[in-house]
Amino acid sequence: MTVEASVSGHYSHGALERAILSALEASGKQVDRLIPADLAPVDEFHIGGRPATAELTAQLGFKPGQRVLDIGCGIGGASRHVAEAYGCQVQGIDLTDEYVRVAALLAERVGLADRVSYRQASALQLPFEAASFDGAYMLHVGMNIADKARLMAEVARVLKPGALFGIYDVMREGAGDLTFPLPWASDPAYSFVESADRYRACLADAGFTVERERNRRDFAIEFFRQMLARWAQGGPPPLGLHILMGESAPQKIANVVAGLKAGLIAPVEIVSRKRA
Ligand SMILES: C[S@@+](CC[C@H](N)C(=O)[O-])C[C@H]1O[C@@H](n2cnc3c(N)ncnc32)[C@H](O)[C@@H]1O
Repeated sequence: MTVEASVSGHYSHGALERAILSALEASGKQVDRLIPADLAPVDEFHIGGRPATAELTAQLGFKPGQRVLDIGCGIGGASRHVAEAYGCQVQGIDLTDEYVRVAALLAERVGLADRVSYRQASALQLPFEAASFDGAYMLHVGMNIADKARLMAEVARVLKPGALFGIYDVMREGAGDLTFPLPWASDPAYSFVESADRYRACLADAGFTVERERNRRDFAIEFFRQMLARWAQGGPPPLGLHILMGESAPQKIANVVAGLKAGLIAPVEIVSRKRA
């Protein structure tokens, strides 16, 4: 099996739309009257959820009408936030076919289908013309991609000169074995966690200038502390990331938290600009 087949197999659920709608109903939401914020507990598949998306995208200078690329968009929470908060036209791409389909259905339900669109594609072979986007971002995707040099080169190709690219990935902090399963991989064969140094080197080679970097380890530990404290009082709520992570969600979270606390990994933001 190729790495990309393993990755999309890892994320595929099988009945994701139904599972999300049932959880929304169980949370007391009317599924024919949803707003984007109703989906935030489940459609932001990265450490820190919607606040982490808002903090990264606030640094990217988006303007109404700009065309923005979401690389590895998942089920589309960040794309809908950027469309709603900044008035951008967002194009999401993702390897996992089911995520792309559910992303489109959710966008339709919250009335954003005219501002976001989704396509099944690999980040390593973006199906877009050169210099066709005003900005791009990627949240918790690079951990599944071995060839960071090619990834950054592809992103550079589709961005206009001067455009900003925001990354928020789990990166390698210290040496030592990670324990699997993790939220992005059930085994090491398709987990490629790299250091911020490596990201910066690939970005520079691809024609980016790094403008800002921020390590979010403390924020991540606090995010999980609060999540686990809520779960300790009666289990996870109906709507949450455990829907995407499946039955092994508690183990995946425990392994990430252990990696964070041991100083092996941390989520890091890097904002860079394509050189003119
Ligand atoms: C942890 S999820 C994050 C999803 C989304 N960015 C979010 O924050 O909600 C990782 C996503 O990256 C996608 N992905 C992994 N490797 C990819 C690749 N080579 N090309 C496109 N998408 C990829 C997966 O299918 C999955 O949807």
